[in-house]
Amino acid sequence: MNAFSSAPTPIPRLILPAGFVWGASTSSYQIEGGANADGREPSIWDTHCQRKGRVSNGDSGEVACDHYHRYPEDLQIMAGLGLQAYRFSISWSRIMPRGRGPVNQKGLDFYDRLVDGLLELGIEPWICLFHWDFPQVLQDLGGWSNRDSVGWFADYAMLAARRYGDRVKHWATFNEPNVSTLFGYLWGWSPPAASDRAGYFRVVHHENLAHGAAIDVLRDAVPNACLGVIHNRQAVYPERHDPAHQAAMALMDDHWNKIFPDPQILGYYPESAASDIEPFMQAGDLSRICRPLDWFGLNHYSPIWARVDPGSTLGFRMGDFPEGTAHTEINWAIVPEAFKSEMLELTRRYRLPIYITENGCGSNQEQPDASGFVQDDHRMAYLGLYLGKMAEAIQEGADVRGYFIWSLLDNFEWGSGYDFRFGIVRVDFATQARTPKASAKWFADLIAVNRGA
Ligand code: FCB
Repeated sequence: MNAFSSAPTPIPRLILPAGFVWGASTSSYQIEGGANADGREPSIWDTHCQRKGRVSNGDSGEVACDHYHRYPEDLQIMAGLGLQAYRFSISWSRIMPRGRGPVNQKGLDFYDRLVDGLLELGIEPWICLFHWDFPQVLQDLGGWSNRDSVGWFADYAMLAARRYGDRVKHWATFNEPNVSTLFGYLWGWSPPAASDRAGYFRVVHHENLAHGAAIDVLRDAVPNACLGVIHNRQAVYPERHDPAHQAAMALMDDHWNKIFPDPQILGYYPESAASDIEPFMQAGDLSRICRPLDWFGLNHYSPIWARVDPGSTLGFRMGDFPEGTAHTEINWAIVPEAFKSEMLELTRRYRLPIYITENGCGSNQEQPDASGFVQDDHRMAYLGLYLGKMAEAIQEGADVRGYFIWSLLDNFEWGSGYDFRFGIVRVDFATQARTPKASAKWFADLIAVNRGA
């Protein structure tokens, strides 16, 4: 099932730069619940979950971990782990239920309480503005396909920046725009479940513009801001070694790894995308997109394999890994070496400090004992391998300054519903009981041993 022996994973002692940050990541729709609480309105994920057959078991984030109500307990868990930072996202529909215009005081108050609670415990809040839960009411106006979305996003960023910027210094604009656009506008898996070539390129360009506009707003409104963007980067391999698959691999690499960060950081689109973006490009757009950043957030789990598929809109799709490849219980390949190469390649390509903003191990087979405890040896083994490679990459010159585990809690894993568990803390979704897994203790010990100066 996986490549790990059952031997316990020792706590590695890592050589890390001073000030290295240890944290955990979550996102609003995946943990908050409270979907109808205190004036929140639906996001595209609320709507998507109601459509039959879209999400495993018909699951949704309506209740999720009920973090909206149980955050005080979750804060205590974070403190118990010794976290130095906590990355979460804001639900746009909670603080601006109509997507623009009137603000929702109660929604804003929730994140005030969360931010203050973190700071009281000595945990640095890191806010991500957009982790996929786009307001449905704006989707009805065309969503990211509408160029007005750039202004909508900037206004939302302004609201958050003015409200929390006195206490929150670390901000990210987008989480993994590549995944939400490929899955949502090309492959039809995520909301709005579209599959249209021109529509996809239009959305890519508008999200890039929205990123740039939000960076300008944050820079202006947040004193001493430390601003970044979070991208999912994975090595891409060809499923077969023939010229057609090599070409699919190169194209997939452009779309998965470059179509967002390249214009945002280097100021140009990959050549293969330029003519498709052209119809949506206005004079000055590239300089609106490419704004100075302070850090690059790397989400990394596993490499991906490209398959040629003439029937799909761009001619490629996700392929399978070679037989015999080590993989996690949810079938994601385990290739720690690929994680190391990404960090080195990122340092070379973008020359920004890197924070690992997500990395972790999913399972659909964890069995709790009678007390709710899970002995998740597979997760500790995965983390041991990946953290070891992170330290190696740093030794070889990668500018990595922090590591945030995905995830603090088991949560709503998008199209897989509650089938896939990534938490170091188990959540019993029937009772909402939280029980730290073996990996929570392991991670807490790891932080204690490797806490920087
Ligand atoms: C990433 C997402 C995150 C979570 C992990 C497992 O792609 O950013 O929300 O679903 O995968």
